[in-house]
Amino acid sequence: MKPRKIKENIFLIGGVDWNRRLFDSLIPLPDGTSYNAYLIKGSGKTALLDTVDPKLVEFLFAQLEDVKNIDYIISHHTEQDHSGSIPMILEKYPNAKVIASDKAKGMIMDHLLVPEEKIQVVKDGEELSLGDKTLKFIYTPWVHWPETMVTYLKEDNILFSCDFFGSHIATSDIFVTDEGLVYESAKRYFAEIMMPFRNIIKNNIKKVSEYKIDIIAPSHGPLYDKPEFIIEAYKDWIADTPKNIAVIPYISMHGSTEKMVMHLTAALAERGVKVHLFDLAVTDIGKLAITLVDAATIIIGTPTVHMSPHPVVTYAVQLANILRPKLKFASVVGSYGWATKAVEQIAGMIPNLKVEILNPVIVKGYPKEEDLKALDTLAQAVADKHKENNVI
Ligand code: FEO
Repeated sequence: MKPRKIKENIFLIGGVDWNRRLFDSLIPLPDGTSYNAYLIKGSGKTALLDTVDPKLVEFLFAQLEDVKNIDYIISHHTEQDHSGSIPMILEKYPNAKVIASDKAKGMIMDHLLVPEEKIQVVKDGEELSLGDKTLKFIYTPWVHWPETMVTYLKEDNILFSCDFFGSHIATSDIFVTDEGLVYESAKRYFAEIMMPFRNIIKNNIKKVSEYKIDIIAPSHGPLYDKPEFIIEAYKDWIADTPKNIAVIPYISMHGSTEKMVMHLTAALAERGVKVHLFDLAVTDIGKLAITLVDAATIIIGTPTVHMSPHPVVTYAVQLANILRPKLKFASVVGSYGWATKAVEQIAGMIPNLKVEILNPVIVKGYPKEEDLKALDTLAQAVADKHKENNVI
């Protein structure tokens, strides 16, 4: 695609990665992604904001074909999908300076091998004039690395936010046209990389809310010409109180655990608790992460394999632990053949989750009538705990 004009002398460039299906060898991308870079031509200087994942650098070069000079390369975030092409851009534009936060300087040198003399550090709140356009840099740490910052273009009220507010969507649209799609994709992205830092993100939202913003221009997915849509969504996701939701990730090998989680799901629903149930053998792990943004309770369903939880369950539990969702309650249900240590082992895997453990239901063999009653008791305990804690 050719450079696309957002406003006078401000262009969306970069690359659309239509077919990428996995990020960081971890995160499923059902809708692909984009690496948005932006070109701002001031009356005196020209700035490139972010670059692209190196595998798409040829698209960036094609869009810069007519650009004779770049004075500044703004690096909001060192991760390679945005800054990985900086060394190649510096080869083409050897006079350009890389503008970065104080913490980013060393990271850019370490990760991208950019020489120190090419990097110019800007302070939080510092401004850089391009002539008739002024860039103001706002430190927004932990969205999602420690060095992250955003740029506010004062004359045009545009916030260039990099990962912050981004969504992994490959699209030919410049602006959001399908809010439902973008909401889910942005929530998936928040869950997978920003949820652990939600208390710091509160400060970042407060900081950027001081500015009049007409457009948010992230470095993944479409731009927001109604910024309140995504800002309000973020405020909901970072709120302290979870919702009346139980998430049940499970695996079943011969049907016992499945019988239990199905019974539990119905029992929770009868008691007014919304349930998200995921068979981990087939689920998109990103969907599980999305539901963890709001859930008050997680109930892990696992059979026992060599005394331990099923390894696929272990993976999901460890993921939940590192994402640090605002869960308040947890439990385990499942079955074993002759002996098990699954509950103790799962409890030891979730030190980051500040949860109260509700009585697990672990069954030898296939669940019997009394086991189903124990699951009803667990469902009632979840519903009661949610009510007591004003989880609605
Ligand atoms: Fe889109 Fe953290 O990189």
